[in-house]
Parts: sequence; structure tokens; C-alpha cells
Amino acid sequence: MATKMQLTPEQQSILNGEQGETMAKVLKTLVMYGEAFGAEKMVPVTSEKGHLVTSFDLKAMKAVYELMDQLIEAGAVSGQPFSVDPKPLDPQVPANFLERLVFKKFMYTQQENYDAQLKKLGLLSENAYTCACYLEEVGNTPEKGDILSWAESSAVVYANSVLGARCNRNSGIIELFGSIAGYVPCFGLLTDEGRKATWIVEVKTEKMPEAQVLGSAIGMKVLEEVPYIKGLDRWLGKELNKQNKAYLKDFGAATASNGAVGLYHVENLTPEAVEQGEKLIAPGAKTYVIDDAELERIKNGYPVVWKNPDARPRLCFVGCPHLTYDQLISWTEQVEAKLKENGRARVVIPTVFTAPPAVVEKFEKTPYAPRLKATGVILSYICPLMYMNNPIAAKKPVITNSNKLRTYTTARYYTDAEILDSITKGVQ
Ligand code: F3S
Repeated sequence: MATKMQLTPEQQSILNGEQGETMAKVLKTLVMYGEAFGAEKMVPVTSEKGHLVTSFDLKAMKAVYELMDQLIEAGAVSGQPFSVDPKPLDPQVPANFLERLVFKKFMYTQQENYDAQLKKLGLLSENAYTCACYLEEVGNTPEKGDILSWAESSAVVYANSVLGARCNRNSGIIELFGSIAGYVPCFGLLTDEGRKATWIVEVKTEKMPEAQVLGSAIGMKVLEEVPYIKGLDRWLGKELNKQNKAYLKDFGAATASNGAVGLYHVENLTPEAVEQGEKLIAPGAKTYVIDDAELERIKNGYPVVWKNPDARPRLCFVGCPHLTYDQLISWTEQVEAKLKENGRARVVIPTVFTAPPAVVEKFEKTPYAPRLKATGVILSYICPLMYMNNPIAAKKPVITNSNKLRTYTTARYYTDAEILDSITKGVQ
């Protein structure tokens, strides 16, 4: 096959079928994908591990599962072990009879078969189902400068921005093909030029901005461009510690879902901004100033898509993207304190905290686990979006502190403080 791209002799031989017809098709797809974005070469995937976005089986995705079978049969399995997005189901998470029926009989009918396919393709471990795969408990943390083949938007933006790895916002399946072939096309966020900021964001708030609203504001303004954020270090400081990483995880997921941000730089904090400073800003970059009024305007602009806007919430999700271990502890302490303040023993709205299975396992071994249980909060490893992604769950009045969940479902967004009030007082 003739390509516009400059391929190495090894890449050309794969394309010519020397590693079999299936491998040739995998590489051909990646080459065509790259050429569509103007890539001139393919570069090796250097991270130790991959990450897949498709963790669930859906009847509508039959072609994907057939393709997976073909890959397994041809021995075209991933060259790197991979983690995968969270599972869609957990019997602990409240669901009524009809919802369970829809999940089991119509939506996720082949989950076990799909899990078996993932194992054969190179799944890292039983515990590797999470979007926050980069957390230390999960063990898929790329190094600075690593080239990745991932697609999960919240993980891609984190890996690029906080870890300094390099990954485009690939689509599902393309990311698997990159892990199988060991190459990805070089364009966009893989290049120095593509990592330059074309927006300067000046944060001029008088209080610490809510991570998920700030991310939402920036995402909606810059869309898929790269922002260089000034003034946030006033609130976060200059150390990329656990607390700041958790903040940036939630912030980044909002930029990536409310817009399509794949990389941001935070002045004096994220690795490339610390190294290169304003040299990262492209000539002619536009400016966006954010103050408290702007954040309020953004938050008040979210549409309320509940049938009855005054309905009493019937479910609350916290943990999209998945919570870190420290966040889980902090939420446990805050829920306990608020319940005490409000003279209650248990949460008044069914509430689910979601975290990676490995984090749940670690948390379960601590004295915090019975304390959280005593508040009535359920701890789960699911993806709330998968839970809500059907017409029955969509009718339920659900509240969340996740701007990603708000964007893709009928869930209503509230700040962390508002969520705490709602679940402990019953007042929104
Ligand atoms: Fe993660 Fe699911 Fe939210 S994949 S970011 S918990 S939508």
C-alpha cells in the first residue's frame, strides 16, 4: 500500500502483510487516521501500559465485539497490558426493578463475554476498570514525555497536562489499534507545536474556584484549543501535591467534556509550564478573564432538564471521574461532620461515591470504611454515566458534583458544598 506518510521499513513491512492480514489492517487504519490529520510519520507508543475507553458491552456495538474476536483469533493482541474504563453495573448501586431489567436484558447483555475478550486482548488485571487509571493504586501512570495511545478524555487531559505525557484525544478502537501496533500517528498534542497554548486564561477570582465550574468555563470557551492558565497558582500554590492533582483531575475532566480540551498548562504548576513558562504561549493567543461573576454566570447557565425542576433528588453521584483515596477520606469526614451538624445519622438522599476498584479495596481496609457505611453512602466502582445512559434512569432526578455527568446525562450539577448540604439536610 502506498502512503503519503513516511513509514519506517518495519512499519512498511507490517503494512505489506508480513505480520499477517489483520495486523496490516490495524496499521492501515492508523495510517489513514493520521493522514486525515496531516500526520507525516508514525511514532512508537512508549508508555508501558495502554488504556481502553470501552469497558462495557452494548447490543448496539456488536461490530466492535466481532472485531475484537477477529483480533484475538489473528493473535493481534495488545503489545502492552491495558486498563479500561469503569464497569457499568454494580448490584450495590440502587436501581429499581425496571432499571435492572433494562440493564440485564437489553443493555449490558454480554458483559461477561466482553470481560473475557478484554482479558485475552491484554487487560492489566481484574482491578483495572477505572477512568482514573493514572492513580498510583491502579498502576498505570505514564512518565513525562511518554507517547500514549489512549482515548478516555478525562485520562488523556490528565496525562498530557499533569503528567506531561503525550497523547491525542483518540477515539475508541483507534486507541486499541495503537496499543496493538505499537505505533500512533504523530500530529497535534504529540508535537511541540501542537502543545503551544492559543488561549491565555486569567483567573481573577476572590475565592478558590470550584474545580468543575472553572474547568467547564474554560472548556466552553477554548473548545479543543490549549489554554495557558494564569492566577490559579494563587489558590493551588506551586506544588503538584496529591490535593492539587485531585483538583486538576476534576478540573481537567470538566474542560474535556464541557469543551474538548486535551491539554492545559497551569502557570508555575504543571510540568511543561514550570519548565517553559510563557514560551508555551503561541503568538496571537486570545485572552479569557475569569472572575467570580463569570463562574456564577456559567453555573447559572446550565440547563435544567428534569421533567419537574422542583423534584426531590432520588440519587446522588460523587466521583466522576473516579475519586482518589484522599478524596474518599475527605468526603467521609465531611459527610460525617455535616450529618452531625444537621442532627442526622444517615444521608437523606441515596448517595453513591465512585472510585477505582483498587482504591475501594485500599479504603475498605481502613477504619474509614465502616464510618462511611454508617452514613448510608454506598461505595462503588461503576461509571455513573453508564448507569444513567438509558431512558429509564434518565427520568430519575439525579444530582452530582460532576460536570461531565451533567453534560452527558440529565443529572443536575451542584458544587461540593451544595451536594453536602443536599445529602445531609435534604435541602438543595
Ligand atoms: Fe469516568 Fe465514567 Fe465519569 S468513565 S469520567 S466515571 S463518565
